[in-house]
Amino acid sequence: MSKPLQLAILISGNGSNLQSIIDAIESGSLNARISAVISNERDAYGLVRATRHGLNTWVVEHRDYPDRDQFDAVLQNYLEAVNPDYIVLAGFMRILGPGFIHAFEDRILNIHPSLLPAYKGLHTHRRALDNGATEHGVSIHLVTAELDDGPVILQASYPIEAGDTVQDLQRKGQRLEHQMYPQLLRWLGNDKLAIKGGQLFYEQALLEKPIHYRP
Ligand code: GRF
Repeated sequence: MSKPLQLAILISGNGSNLQSIIDAIESGSLNARISAVISNERDAYGLVRATRHGLNTWVVEHRDYPDRDQFDAVLQNYLEAVNPDYIVLAGFMRILGPGFIHAFEDRILNIHPSLLPAYKGLHTHRRALDNGATEHGVSIHLVTAELDDGPVILQASYPIEAGDTVQDLQRKGQRLEHQMYPQLLRWLGNDKLAIKGGQLFYEQALLEKPIHYRP
C-alpha cells in the first residue's frame, strides 16, 4: 500500500465535510492521514468532531490579526511546518491572499456549493432559487488567487424541484459533497489524478473540463 496522503483540513463551522473524510479514512476506503484540523473560529463544531477522533486541532482567529496578510503569514508558517500533501478547504470562510496561495501552489483544494463558474461567492442556494434555476450543484476546484476560481476538478449536479427551500438544496448538495471529497482525495492518493502547474491530469491525460461526479 502506498504512503498515506497527508492532509491539513481548514474549517470555520460545522465540519460535516471534515467528518466525511474522517469516516472514509477510518473505514479504510481512503488511505490518508489528517495531520491538522485548523479553524479560524474557536467555536466551530468541526473542532469537536476532530477532537473526538483524536486529531490535532489549531485555532487561528482572523480577528486577532490586523490584516489579511498577517493572518495568512501565521497560517502559512504553521502549514509549512505541518507540510501536508494537500490543504483541504472544507467550509473555510476566509479568503486566502495570493502570497499564501502561491506558497502552496497545486496543493489547495476547495469545495463550493454551486456549479462553478455559476454562483461564485456566498448564498448560492438562495440566488439559484431566486433566479428560478432548475438545477444546482457542487464543485471541487483547485484554489487560485481569485475567489472561487481555479480549475474545477469534480462537479455534481442535482435538480431543483418545485417547492424546494434553501435548506432542501443544502441537504441535496451536502449529500453529494460528503461523497465527493473522499473520492477526489482517493484519486490523488492513488495517482489517478495529478495536479501540476495549475493543470489537472486524470489517468495521465490533461483534464480539459471537470469530471462529472455520479453517485
Ligand atoms: C459546504 O456546503 C461547502 O460547500 C461550503 O461550506 C459548507 C461547509 O459545510 N464551502 P461543513 O462545515 O463541511 O458542514
